Amino acid sequence: MLSIVDLVKDFGGLRAVDGVSFEVGQGTITGLIGPNGAGKTTTFNMVAGAFPPSGGSIRFDGTDITSWSAHQTFREGLVRTFQIPRPFSRMTVLENLMMVPQGQIGERFWNTWFRIGAIRAEERRLRDKAVEILDFLGLTRLGEEAAGNLSGGQMKLLELGRALMSDPKMILLDEPGAGINPTLLGEIVDRIAELNKRGITFLIIEHNMDMVMTLCHPIIVMASGKLLMEGSADEVQTDSRVLEAFLGGAVDDDAEATVG
Ligand SMILES: Nc1ncnc2c1ncn2[C@@H]1O[C@H](COP(=O)(O)OP(=O)(O)O)[C@@H](O)[C@H]1O
Ligand SMILES: [Mg+2]
Repeated sequence: MLSIVDLVKDFGGLRAVDGVSFEVGQGTITGLIGPNGAGKTTTFNMVAGAFPPSGGSIRFDGTDITSWSAHQTFREGLVRTFQIPRPFSRMTVLENLMMVPQGQIGERFWNTWFRIGAIRAEERRLRDKAVEILDFLGLTRLGEEAAGNLSGGQMKLLELGRALMSDPKMILLDEPGAGINPTLLGEIVDRIAELNKRGITFLIIEHNMDMVMTLCHPIIVMASGKLLMEGSADEVQTDSRVLEAFLGGAVDDDAEATVG
């Protein structure tokens, strides 16, 4: 479904992603792990069209999308969520879902009379769809709540809901488990598995190893901008390079904390 080849990203003198190649098979829940600063989010940003790569190529569902904008990838059915959710905080949860761009029916019809009817029908359809997604996510009772009042975990669910509004083929999730209580985490894991059964492919960046090991196969490991390995949960957990990369990261963090 997704294929990236020799992907590179330079930020000034820093090579954040350094010749990474991997594939995400259709129908998989693929995990992307690695210590902080490994280049995971930067890889996501290039795939989702936030900025173009400095080198390499990206294919999605048979199409070269290497330098596509976020808008274009979104329309193609490739959507991402953010490490830090960004809902419209004063709007209600339901409105946040209804805001997600659809096929822009208003642009397609030149006949004004016909258009007004079509837009009303489209609005009803959007509302129905949003209500259904809220129900699926267990957020129905929060539909009229301002999105800014949600807990961190509920915002993550809302992010997932916004992604679902676009009828995606593939969803990129950046740390869906970060800062979430165990109950809600179980809920999110459960919903992702269910969506996957319904045909959506996932690529998930996550630090919560329990979540990665139960949900993801295969698991891709990055460190220092490079691809370290790819394998099953068992293979990744017992690989000495992976252990070293994570321990190395921890030692760096400690050193920084002491110096800082
Ligand atoms: N917009 C940016 N400008 C400059 N440097 C960046 C930018 N985004 C990320 N980086 C740097 O690129 C490296 C990889 O970051 P990132 O992709 O966020 O890692 P990860 O998500 O694996 O923790 C880090 O050294 C980070 O500081
Ligand atoms: Mg990140």
